[in-house]
Amino acid sequence: MSAELVDGGIPLVLKSALERVASDIDRLFDRLLAVPDDPRRELYEAMRHAAIGGGKRLRPLLVCAACDIFHIDRNRALRVALAIECMHVYSLIHDDLPCMDDDDMRRGKPTVHVQFNEATAMLAGDSLHALAFEVLADEATHEDPFVRSELVLALARAAGPAGMAGGQMMDLVAEGETFDLPTVTRLQQLKTGALIAFCLEAGAIMGHVPPEGRTHLRGYARDVGLAFQIADDLIDAEGDADAAGKAVGKDAAAGKATFLSLLGLDRARQQAHLLVDQAIAHLQGYGSEADLLRAIARYVIERDR
Ligand code: IPE
Ligand code: IPE
Ligand code: MG
Ligand code: MG
Ligand code: MG
Repeated sequence: MSAELVDGGIPLVLKSALERVASDIDRLFDRLLAVPDDPRRELYEAMRHAAIGGGKRLRPLLVCAACDIFHIDRNRALRVALAIECMHVYSLIHDDLPCMDDDDMRRGKPTVHVQFNEATAMLAGDSLHALAFEVLADEATHEDPFVRSELVLALARAAGPAGMAGGQMMDLVAEGETFDLPTVTRLQQLKTGALIAFCLEAGAIMGHVPPEGRTHLRGYARDVGLAFQIADDLIDAEGDADAAGKAVGKDAAAGKATFLSLLGLDRARQQAHLLVDQAIAHLQGYGSEADLLRAIARYVIERDR
């Protein structure tokens, strides 16, 4: 990778890969979420508001980068990328609800419950959750039904009580609790790490890699996931709401146990760098086909949004 060609701290190769996947995902959402001329109109409008035209699309890029290693057809990879973004956007809509983080701004726009209403936000989240599985289970994603069911199983595990939803529960409990470092690590692995890990796992599943051949990709995903959440916590602590597109300063105000509250800013930042180095080291068995994954790992902690 021509790492010397940089724009705003981001290698050009990564920047163009992010832009390409973002426009592909927007196009797919646009096609899938055509607004019907019936009483469900608001539901579709709410889903479009949340899903189209925003976000870094980091998870879709991870899926595409992992699929590239195994030479998976891009249109198929994009369907898996769309599925994980559906799941992620659903998690954001619900995370922002008054009963959870009660946030008004997301991706630089009003949150769904602010723009529409709470009931519509709940249903938009529910619908995106269902859509994720619908997309994976469709034959267009992969002709092999075993591959499709493995994808569905992996996403269900990543999103449920042993994954994202379980992490969100721990996150709620983390307000006013004195969690130790192993507990916070577990919380973040579930809350954020599980969906990120799915992205790499999905590449391996699409590439027919048996579980015993996935160790290095799983190690990469684990380290990137933790580094990603430390960066999210750093943005919350010292970032800018306009750049981030969401409110900042909320974790400390809520008295939430995070890596920052336990380690402090400097050690948390050091830890994030260490995790990124470790993530990249997991890829040493791969050649230039994993360069995009290496660049993503670095970007995860250099971002300001
Ligand atoms: C934010 O995720 C929520 C967390 C899991 C910390 P992102 O930072 O990937 O949000 P978008 O998709 O770019 O909006
Ligand atoms: C949300 O974590 C993670 C999920 C939606 C699963 P945060 O609450 O830290 O995310 P932000 O900071 O609102 O994006
Ligand atoms: Mg939250
Ligand atoms: Mg939140
Ligand atoms: Mg946060």
